[in-house]
Amino acid sequence: MSEDHSNGYEAVANLYIAGRGTRPLVGDSVGAATVRAWAQAFPSGATVLDIGSGPGEPSTRILREAGLVTYAVEASPSMVAAFRKNFPDVPIEQNTVEASEFFNRPFDGVLAWGLLFLLKPEAQALVIEKVARALNPGGRFLFSAPKEPLEWLDGMTDQPSRSLGAQTYERLLREAGLTWVNEAEDEGGNHYYVVEKR
Ligand SMILES: C[S@@+](CC[C@H](N)C(=O)[O-])C[C@H]1O[C@@H](n2cnc3c(N)ncnc32)[C@H](O)[C@@H]1O
Repeated sequence: MSEDHSNGYEAVANLYIAGRGTRPLVGDSVGAATVRAWAQAFPSGATVLDIGSGPGEPSTRILREAGLVTYAVEASPSMVAAFRKNFPDVPIEQNTVEASEFFNRPFDGVLAWGLLFLLKPEAQALVIEKVARALNPGGRFLFSAPKEPLEWLDGMTDQPSRSLGAQTYERLLREAGLTWVNEAEDEGGNHYYVVEKR
């Protein structure tokens, strides 16, 4: 069996896609309203990267509906296959966010919904640095992670997840040159952070 780079999501991809990643189910899915509000604040034609996109439902679809030019990075081959079926014209790189060169281009926005806390602490810090480098001045980063420092087993994969907590995220973001703008919770109780590169 080939090595897994998706923190366990490749093994549950079919289940995940059936539960969240199919069109009839996604309109009001958890987090959709938050991502939509964030996306609609960009000017039409802005470029946004969805990291850990899964099958692109609902996040990439919401970004496109807001008139944004989208790209994606995703490590699970099955999620990438579903993404390509959903969005044949959207560039997606099958890679880890840690190893990705993020298309070697700048972005106006980066979205990481349900991703960061799947990574080990050093990898989370690395991704924050990479996002900071990839963002244009004035660019924005939206990511979800619990407010408190916390470790738990992912409900779908049974693999360890860890939030570094708001204080550590705020420090890592500041050290990377990003400014914390806002934090809140979506309707499903997912904590999220809105960040800007000033
Ligand atoms: C909880 S799902 C969230 C998917 C999507 N963002 C959403 O809102 O439905 C996490 C996704 O991140 C992907 N992933 C996990 N570790 C990754 C890594 N190191 N690099 C890229 N993608 C990764 C998984 O394969 C999975 O599709």
